[in-house]
Amino acid sequence: MTSIAVSTHPLVAHKVTRLRDPRTKPKEFRELVNEITTLLLYEATADLPVRSVPVETPLATTSGVELESRIGLIPILRAGLGMVPAASALLPHAEVWHLGIYREEATRTPVEYYNKLPQDLNIDVAIVLDPMLATGGSAVAAIDVLKLRNLRSVRFVGLIAAPEGTEALQGAHPDVSIHVAALDSHLNDQAYIVPGLGDAGDRQFGTV
Ligand code: PRP
Ligand code: URA
Repeated sequence: MTSIAVSTHPLVAHKVTRLRDPRTKPKEFRELVNEITTLLLYEATADLPVRSVPVETPLATTSGVELESRIGLIPILRAGLGMVPAASALLPHAEVWHLGIYREEATRTPVEYYNKLPQDLNIDVAIVLDPMLATGGSAVAAIDVLKLRNLRSVRFVGLIAAPEGTEALQGAHPDVSIHVAALDSHLNDQAYIVPGLGDAGDRQFGTV
């Protein structure tokens, strides 16, 4: 069964509150997305396997560790782009594969319009980045694409989820762990998360 981790860190809760406020302008909004992503990834990577390696300090040789997994970052365009700088800074060796998916306005079904995934996904762990998990359609479609290429170990990292989205993702991909900063109340009749923060893409990039 999928695990859902909703951060309980006070820094995350504080920053999410700033994100929700409509007076928060794109510059601060992007900075907050960056900071929250760093904090969430710290939690979402806590169980990554490591192997022992020797390390020579200026004084002695001791034992250390290095990450065992090859990691791929998959931001879902457009809003997932804002999570890439923090993720790349924490995981500098991770490959970044852009996947463009938008919600078709009338039906709210996901439409894929850009796919920069290599044919051979030569990684062990994929981390899908998207601030919003609303109906879950976009996340499910993105993970479908990864699984079609035989990728088995996938984590989803987002900022705000609705119960409808976590349920859909759990139903379609029960093996995928979900890491979010907040789990909100419900979707409204336009499938926006309530209370949410509005449109994550528009608020990052200053569009309406
Ligand atoms: C937003 C968001 C997710 C999707 C979530 O993208 O970034 O990708 O909606 O909704 P869902 O769970 O119901 O699929 P949007 O379609 O607004 O595109 P954008 O990022 O290009 O603005
Ligand atoms: N996409 C967003 O950006 N916000 C929502 O609340 C739902 C989908």
